[in-house]
Amino acid sequence: MKIFLDTANIAKIKELSQTGLIDGITTNPSLLFKEGGDAKKIILEICSILPDGDISVEITKTNPDDVYKQAKEIAALSKNIIVKIPCHADYYKIINKLVIEEVPVNVTLVFTMLQSLMMAKLGVTYISPFVGRLDDLDVDGNVIISEIREMLDNYNFETELLAASIRTVREFHEAILNGADAVTMPVEIFEKSIKHILTNQGIEKFTEDWKKLGIQQFP
Ligand code: G3P
Repeated sequence: MKIFLDTANIAKIKELSQTGLIDGITTNPSLLFKEGGDAKKIILEICSILPDGDISVEITKTNPDDVYKQAKEIAALSKNIIVKIPCHADYYKIINKLVIEEVPVNVTLVFTMLQSLMMAKLGVTYISPFVGRLDDLDVDGNVIISEIREMLDNYNFETELLAASIRTVREFHEAILNGADAVTMPVEIFEKSIKHILTNQGIEKFTEDWKKLGIQQFP
């Protein structure tokens, strides 16, 4: 099960990659806009912080021919880049071509099981259904994750299911139970998910009681 951070913040990526838990990073134009500066430089730095991680980088062009050209250029930046392309019918033939040319593709902005089926048939590396944006519309995003899991398993597709647009620790929890192969989440959700108040309280109590023993050196 892979954990990705949904951010382009270099300081946080450096810090949290030291936990050994981060398998990759997902970026998009909005996340790069949030950081500002030179997007290409940021991407290259992320790729070097996690040389064995999967680093998703989204195309920014819209015309299909330009999307193809840009996807190839993005993929050439680093061996660990996965090119992110929106799940739009205009791009299906481009996605097909890229997969045949062995460019790893993460199809983003996925909202249904049927979109996922089409992309799994094309053989993309990841499909990214947006859980939080479905929840925003009062559609249970994690039900879609479960449906996609069932579909992928029924037909033995190798495409990996990447739960995206995760906004809460609960959505992260449910994505795991529903069989996501990978989950990408904002830094705050990752940080919340690795902390527990009872763990902190337990450490305080053990430390307090140990001090009362008055032992100077142990062991
Ligand atoms: O990974 C997709 C993510 O960046 C979208 O998240 O919160 O903008 O729906 P959000």
